Amino acid sequence: MTNDAGAHDAVEVITAKRDRHELSDSQIDWVVDAYTRGAVADEQMSSLAMAILLNGMTRREIARWTGAMIASGERMDFSSLSRPTADKHSTGGVGDKITLPLAPLVAACGVAVPQLSGRGLGHTGGTLDKLEAIPGWRASLSNAEILDQLDSLGAVICAAGDGLAPADKKLYALRDVTGTVEAIPLIASSIMSKKIAEGTGALVLDVKVGSGAFMKDVDRARELAETMVALGTDAGVRTTALLTDMSTPLGLTAGNAIEVAESVEVLAGGGPADVVELTLALAREMLAGAGVTDADPADKLADGSAMDAWKAMIRAQGGDPDAELPVARESHVVVAPSTGVLTRLDAMAVGLAAWRLGAGRARKEDPVQAGAGVVWHARPGDAVTEGQPLFTLLTDDEHRFERALASLEGGYDVAPAGTEVTPQPLVIDRIG
Ligand code: URA
Repeated sequence: MTNDAGAHDAVEVITAKRDRHELSDSQIDWVVDAYTRGAVADEQMSSLAMAILLNGMTRREIARWTGAMIASGERMDFSSLSRPTADKHSTGGVGDKITLPLAPLVAACGVAVPQLSGRGLGHTGGTLDKLEAIPGWRASLSNAEILDQLDSLGAVICAAGDGLAPADKKLYALRDVTGTVEAIPLIASSIMSKKIAEGTGALVLDVKVGSGAFMKDVDRARELAETMVALGTDAGVRTTALLTDMSTPLGLTAGNAIEVAESVEVLAGGGPADVVELTLALAREMLAGAGVTDADPADKLADGSAMDAWKAMIRAQGGDPDAELPVARESHVVVAPSTGVLTRLDAMAVGLAAWRLGAGRARKEDPVQAGAGVVWHARPGDAVTEGQPLFTLLTDDEHRFERALASLEGGYDVAPAGTEVTPQPLVIDRIG
């Protein structure tokens, strides 16, 4: 059956991948383009996505697939800027607010950061949802506004427009409902098509590993990171990746307004040690990729220049960086069941609790609550005393506490005082 007056048809491409053949360049170009135009049906593309998940793709196929997705839309061009560009992408984790302090910090070091971001789906939060907790802040900017802001301030965090890799938008929504999200060729091409089309000169990938991440084991995370680094490098983007731990959530908060507040603490020179460590590690990767060797990002946190860049960036998008952040109407405290040491805090359990409290959404059209989320008052290795607050749950709807508490159950352990907790390294590996 022919779907389109082109060189191929969908069944031929599906059966080729089903039978473990390598797809040709022309088959890949055709099927991505025909799907974007609606000439290949959703059921055909979902069958092909499942064949790719089961049988994989070679590096050549992945590179071609990525190129075809880039070609489905526009490419941004930052070559008119007077400073080099660098961006960061995280595969998503719980309490992962790093983009918020990172973008102004790197801008304060002289590199422009075009951070085109998304909203959260499921248990991992979205950068735009967090920033929208700031009164007045606007996520949508035109391409001209993005360029202007990068030129004048050096940092922009905004919504990725519909023009970037539209093939990915359609395919990602399909994968979400057909059990085909987890295919490494499809994840790598999805992320990298958007980042290459965005036009950044350098890119650092934060590939999360652990219970709260897409990739639960380090070997698959490394394979994903290597695939993405190769795609970026081949496209002329100086790309590196850090594999970082996501078995424990980052910092002390998961939510929207509460993560903004924690990010501001980091920009003020304080904040939780793990958030500061990862922000500085990623900043150093971005600066190296951009060829800037004479700036120390730790100095920019200490001397207030990263905070100045943050305030300017928030103001430029209509936000008031000094306004009070929204506070949830209801709160519920979970206390330590015994005296001892917190030996485990599971990222997935905390992420699900924050999501159930209203910080995240189940469907992409759902609203999120700015004040909802989870604050934890101890991290693995910390001593705790029976009855002390361990978690504070925040929401506008009291009825949400029950299901949030259920997701926290079994998500942490308190062992007798003196129990050794071996600290897990936050940065597990570097690729590139
Ligand atoms: N993020 C993306 O943008 N795409 C994927 O496929 C997975 C995570």
